[in-house]
Amino acid sequence: MFPPQPKRRPSESLHNALPLIKELVRPRRKLLALGFVLMVINKTTSLVLPASTKYLVDNVIGKRQIALLTPLILAVLAATCIQGVTSYALTQLLSKEGQRLIAQLRRRVQEHIGRLPVAYYDANKAGMLVSRIMSDVEGVRNLLGTGLVDLVGGILLATFSLGILMYTSPVLTVMALFFIAVFALILRKAFKGIRPIFRERGQITAEVTGRLTESLAGVRVVKGYHAEAGEAKVFAAGTERLLQNVMRSLTAISLMGLTATVLMGVVGAAVMYVGARQILAGSMTLGDLWRFTAFLAFRVAPVFQMVGIGTQITEALAGLDRTQEVLREKPEDEEERRTRTVGPIHGDVSFENVGFAYDPGKPVLYEMSFDAQPGAVTALVGSSGSGKSTIISLVAAFHQPTQGVIRVDGIDLSTVRLDAYRT
Ligand SMILES: Nc1ncnc2c1ncn2[C@@H]1O[C@H](COP(=O)(O)OP(=O)(O)OP(=O)(O)O)[C@@H](O)[C@H]1O
Ligand SMILES: [Mg+2]
Repeated sequence: MFPPQPKRRPSESLHNALPLIKELVRPRRKLLALGFVLMVINKTTSLVLPASTKYLVDNVIGKRQIALLTPLILAVLAATCIQGVTSYALTQLLSKEGQRLIAQLRRRVQEHIGRLPVAYYDANKAGMLVSRIMSDVEGVRNLLGTGLVDLVGGILLATFSLGILMYTSPVLTVMALFFIAVFALILRKAFKGIRPIFRERGQITAEVTGRLTESLAGVRVVKGYHAEAGEAKVFAAGTERLLQNVMRSLTAISLMGLTATVLMGVVGAAVMYVGARQILAGSMTLGDLWRFTAFLAFRVAPVFQMVGIGTQITEALAGLDRTQEVLREKPEDEEERRTRTVGPIHGDVSFENVGFAYDPGKPVLYEMSFDAQPGAVTALVGSSGSGKSTIISLVAAFHQPTQGVIRVDGIDLSTVRLDAYRT
């Protein structure tokens, strides 16, 4: 009834999560637009500082145009102030709204899961439902908070900065881009290798904490059967698996750091070498080199840190896809045929040829008929696993019979409103 979820490609996740995203974004369109405007102002003012270096070096220092210094400094100060204020406003607006949304979505998913039939809980582990409610919805932060706006803004800005770099020195730009492209390729490969390790870590953590929670909650059973040593062994094996996983990811991450450092050094050295020669040959001014370096360091390089945002958005979509799937499950009290309300119940329970299976094809009850009178004691006797608890579950309407009819006070249980019946 609830098959395990297949792994989905990002495009598929996007498609599945789209109705939910639309529903969340629509009432916040204005806020997002305002955020976008703020972001553009923020990014534009962040260009002033690196751009001013050329005038400082070439005009103020090189040509001794002292009169330019004060306006230049004022422009830089004003720009950084605006940048700071817009950053603050962006956090206040988007990040806080993102968090409010997470809280709202959590309440909604929890409330929905609470109304799902017992069969849903049988098919899904409690630990997994916890992560549906607590973790999966966190993705909206990256979609509606600063994540998406940042990504778009960063890309726009990097493109613009690249234009300035090209204008300043095509040779240096192509060279720097080559190294950055090499770096990006290495990063991509590394991320591909690391992602499964992280995914596996989530899995291991869920297993280990799940088992731990069970053995702590069931301490009487564990002690009663003198199974402490066994539990300790299981836990030790779990922590060992977790340790191995962390070790592998640490190796991969430190290798990434190593490549990054080496490549930065290579790019720096190459820019110095080519830049100095171009200045000496007269095809570039000192200020050009300054501006080039400033743009490269402040505006283009950070874009590569944002590669991570792409990953975050993919994960956010996968999470929202799962949220959407849970919200699509039909609550047990929304079945159309459940229309009858019942008053006080006398307790005349009768089964007529009832058949039931938890899993299709594996019948647990078949052709079961009996009548339990109100006020009388009716005993269910049978070996373990013969179906006694199952019968009680059927009477409580936790499950629906696959065949036959269950009547309570003469009323077919499958037509009764659950809230009225269980009250
Ligand atoms: N949630 C479930 N999903 C699948 N199969 C189940 C589920 N619960 C019980 N079963 C199976 O249904 C059958 C009847 O189980 P049930 O718990 O009703 O027996 P029981 O008579 O109450 O046993 P006991 O005396 O041990 O409590 C068993 O074969 C059991 O394995
Ligand atoms: Mg039982």
